[in-house]
Amino acid sequence: MTKLKEATHVQAEKSAEHRVPAPCAMVIFGASGDLTERKLVPALYYLSRAGLLPDGFSVIGCAKTQYTDESFRDKMQKAVKKYLDLPDSDHEAVNAFTRDVHYISDDFGDAKAYDQLKKLLDQLDQQRGTSGNRLFYLATPPSFFPVIVNHLGAVGLAEPKEQNKTWTRIVIEKPFGRDLQSARELNQAVTSVFKEDQIYRIDHYLGKETVQNLLVFRFGNGIFEPFWNRRYIDHVQIAVAEEIGVENRGAYYEEAGLVRDMIQNHVLSLLSLITMEPPAIFDARAVRDEKAKVMRAIRPIPLDRLSEYAVRGQYVEGWTDGNKLPAYRSEPKVSPQSTTETYAALKLFIDNWRWADVPFYLRSGKRLPKRISEITIKFRRAPHLLFKGTGTTSIEPNHLSIHIQPDEGMSLMFNAKIPGTTMQIRPVTMEFHYEDAFGQTPPTTAYETLLLDCMLGDPMLFTRDDFVDLAWEVLTPLLNRWKEDGKKGLSFYESGTWGPPEADAFIERDGRKWQEL
Ligand code: BG6
Repeated sequence: MTKLKEATHVQAEKSAEHRVPAPCAMVIFGASGDLTERKLVPALYYLSRAGLLPDGFSVIGCAKTQYTDESFRDKMQKAVKKYLDLPDSDHEAVNAFTRDVHYISDDFGDAKAYDQLKKLLDQLDQQRGTSGNRLFYLATPPSFFPVIVNHLGAVGLAEPKEQNKTWTRIVIEKPFGRDLQSARELNQAVTSVFKEDQIYRIDHYLGKETVQNLLVFRFGNGIFEPFWNRRYIDHVQIAVAEEIGVENRGAYYEEAGLVRDMIQNHVLSLLSLITMEPPAIFDARAVRDEKAKVMRAIRPIPLDRLSEYAVRGQYVEGWTDGNKLPAYRSEPKVSPQSTTETYAALKLFIDNWRWADVPFYLRSGKRLPKRISEITIKFRRAPHLLFKGTGTTSIEPNHLSIHIQPDEGMSLMFNAKIPGTTMQIRPVTMEFHYEDAFGQTPPTTAYETLLLDCMLGDPMLFTRDDFVDLAWEVLTPLLNRWKEDGKKGLSFYESGTWGPPEADAFIERDGRKWQEL
């Protein structure tokens, strides 16, 4: 991996230059969990190899499990090698990187552990020159968020060590609350200790290259915006499909379900980027203002006609590549009578000038045939069928597909004449692939960008409190109704299929169909 030579020390918002943050220490609460080893530490290693971490950068892991510094380092070394699939030649570099990793055993509620943490941070400031800059990362189950925040406040770690000279920031993993009220309570708890500009609510979809590119695509080109509205667009589909089931997260998923896990954050973030107005300037405040504005315009889901607006499903047994897949209700830590949804399809409207009466169909699910995230803009049909005399009875409307993952890129479908002496028409696509245009895209997990932005103090790709609130405002009534309804209205689908048949009927009733993925 090449060292990025032009890196400089600055603290500004997104620029074209590679930037290295000021020296700092990062504390990960919940460090023995999956997220730390699968995403966070590999992302930090990646940044370190790219020369984007400051000298002296140090990591302190905190969790209940008992580790020594040595055994925790060992676990992190194995994780980085495994999840980045590194060749043996990189192993020495990984070992060197984890020498700056420390561990404190803490059940998150013990004041003594926070005293120990404070001492260790002060010591790192002296020994490694981390100079009082601190990044706290909450990767624990959400019930611990208020506890940790309060302890950090009580021990004096929430304030910057020296006003105006050092920084202290806190990253909060999703889910941010489980409904409107709990999100507000959590926000209240966090903001009673940290100021809003210290709080970074993370949604890793916003760090994905293709998601960041949505703004460049829309506002860096003159040709798309003129038809990006109700006059030309019939409807929009956003699909986030996953092949995996709930894996070992049954306990969490039983409490969350698909809408809380994927739609409240990732899918609504995509929706806001596709539909927001152009910001006045490219900075965090202006971009996040526009995202919130469009969220505010989402029409409440009419609960008296719920079946026209929402479908929920749960996977049952199925097969993929000759392997039998278990039903959701047989997954570990899942109730055999569970009514938790593992699939949802919603129809939303945005009541503003640009989007009035354009339906937005969102769908996401686990145990679908493949992992794919795609946004499809379906344009209105050509107003007049000029070619009917030639035997053409209908012409497909154009659509633009934005492939978020995998195979990042875009494709525009339009109609063309089949070469030959007759007049026959067939849809064709014009394709753009990131890999072809820019060569191999970096193997990032999105956390690299987001962690770096946070250390640099750029909150543009993080979710502001008003967005979280508005997202819950849209979804809480729906979730409450589903809870009341229990199994009534819950559909089922075989693992490895594209969701329940009711979801097809749902969109077909509107005279449309799901885009094939
Ligand atoms: C997480 C969800 O936020 O996103 C998971 O909690 C889901 O359930 C994951 O699997 C999907 O992320 P990605 O980047 O693989 O699409």
